[in-house]
Amino acid sequence: MKFQLTILMSSLLFFNLPVDAQVSAQKFVDLQQGKSDFPGFRRAHAKGVCVYGEFQSNGNLSSFSTASLFQKGNTAFIGRYSLAGNNPTAPDLKAPVRSLALSFNLAPNQQWRVAMNTPPVMAVKNPNDFYQQIVAIKQGGAAIKQFFENHPESADFLRWKANYLPTSSFALERYHSINAFYLLSASGQKQAVRWSMEPLVEDINSLNTDSNDALIEELALRLEQGVVSYDWVFSFATAQDDEHNPAKMWPNEREKVVAGKIVIHEVNRDQNADCQGINFDPLTLPSGILPTNDPILKARSAAYAESYRRRAKEQFWGVFK
Ligand code: HEM
Repeated sequence: MKFQLTILMSSLLFFNLPVDAQVSAQKFVDLQQGKSDFPGFRRAHAKGVCVYGEFQSNGNLSSFSTASLFQKGNTAFIGRYSLAGNNPTAPDLKAPVRSLALSFNLAPNQQWRVAMNTPPVMAVKNPNDFYQQIVAIKQGGAAIKQFFENHPESADFLRWKANYLPTSSFALERYHSINAFYLLSASGQKQAVRWSMEPLVEDINSLNTDSNDALIEELALRLEQGVVSYDWVFSFATAQDDEHNPAKMWPNEREKVVAGKIVIHEVNRDQNADCQGINFDPLTLPSGILPTNDPILKARSAAYAESYRRRAKEQFWGVFK
């Protein structure tokens, strides 16, 4: 046994892989949490607000997936807009990434949790490299430059970043699944897809750039006047696309299907509102949607559970130390 382990370790070294080839969820969340100390809050995307709305399906995806929400009709959701980072008091406009998460309760006894970010791709394709990317970001300057030099697979992400201009509203951003999933049809056909939320509303020119909560306040203001809506657009992979690699963009000419509209009509800024207790684990899927083997997707599920375990212990079950 010891001998086999020695051979395994030396072969990993021979192929120049770190021995700690798979970073654990605990280690990952330790890194994301850093020295920040906000008991009860998420260790990533700590700042956020709950929203309520519905998905208005047009039925266009019902022949590709048996998931009930793709039948023509409306399905309610609880959502959460959030900002990347471990500090729930950080200024909205300093966050590098903006996010939207949705939770659907589907009959019978099924759930779908969706968590999306503004970039369309990751910079890297596995959790270990993502860990090293965060280490480099924390070190700053030369370290991050060096990181991207050593990771040519970041090219698509860097191209997006160079062209991305943050908007003046959560409502005006595009949100992306980044990871791919499969739609599963009634006849057993699997289609790899990514999706995005494409904004349908206009700028209301109400952003108070001096406010620490600028985006949250803008959202509350615009929801007093009307709804926030997006087209939910699915992009279909072809045999040329690797659905297990979240760092690679799929060409823009891939077939796209608009499944319907996401319509948000209410916000609740209370830190104890119901979305705050939800773990938006992207592997909580209904029948008709399957995960790919993207290693980042698997790592997300484990890391969200670890973050949830920590915050739930502090918030809901503070009695257990
Ligand atoms: C290995 C990669 C990743 C890791 C380790 C990671 C880790 C985390 C953690 C620990 C949380 C807090 C979970 C909680 O306490 O409920 C979180 C939240 C979140 N993550 Fe990730 N994440 C990863 C990749 C991604 C990607 C690719 C996306 C976008 C497609 C994403 C979008 C989000 C969003 C939107 C939230 C906030 C959801 C909410 O409002 O509760 N993450 N992430």
